[in-house]
Amino acid sequence: MNKIYSPEEDSYLLSKVLENKIPKLLSENPDLTFLEIGSGSGIQLKTALKSGIKKQNIFSSDINITAVEYCKNLGFNCIKSDLFEVFKRKIKRRKPWCPRKYDLIIFNPPYLPENSQEPSDSKISTTGGKKGSEIINKFLKQAKSHLNKNGKIFLLTSNLTKEIDFLNYEKKILAKKKLFFEELFVWRLSIT
Ligand SMILES: C[S@@+](CC[C@H](N)C(=O)[O-])C[C@H]1O[C@@H](n2cnc3c(N)ncnc32)[C@H](O)[C@@H]1O
Repeated sequence: MNKIYSPEEDSYLLSKVLENKIPKLLSENPDLTFLEIGSGSGIQLKTALKSGIKKQNIFSSDINITAVEYCKNLGFNCIKSDLFEVFKRKIKRRKPWCPRKYDLIIFNPPYLPENSQEPSDSKISTTGGKKGSEIINKFLKQAKSHLNKNGKIFLLTSNLTKEIDFLNYEKKILAKKKLFFEELFVWRLSIT
């Protein structure tokens, strides 16, 4: 069974960005809809709720069914999906509560390059492929068609992640954190 990711520095950095940025986004759009891909322990869902997003507008998914069940038990909408697999389905094959497009999509992805030392039950949360960017790059390709007009993405990455392809997203770094072995970044991405 895959482990649920226990919040780490990356989780706390993204959570802090949500706390700082959500109030302004809500002042412009009180009905802001929020999707987290890869919700894990639900830390970001709790922050989104605490920051004022209406519970019925908070949606989430994870590829790990244990994490999905955990977030559902916390009372959040959560569905098992590989990235946007479920969200891109035609309405009849989607859950009625599961919109196709969102105002804010967030992802704290598995971003590390493959490492044979990594235990197999935590790989799903940490390893992003050979270069570390494979899951991120798939996410970036798919996310475009799930953003509302003026929608934004908050994405966490690391300097250890190689060859991220940001496509034609407009991008800005919202937060950085230097750790002793890596540097973390939170990006705001939007389509112009
Ligand atoms: C680094 S953890 C982040 C967990 C939590 N959001 C946090 O900030 O602590 C990455 C999460 O992404 C999930 N994940 C990995 N690959 C995925 C995929 N292809 N689609 C959806 N979720 C995925 C993992 O199961 C894990 O819960």
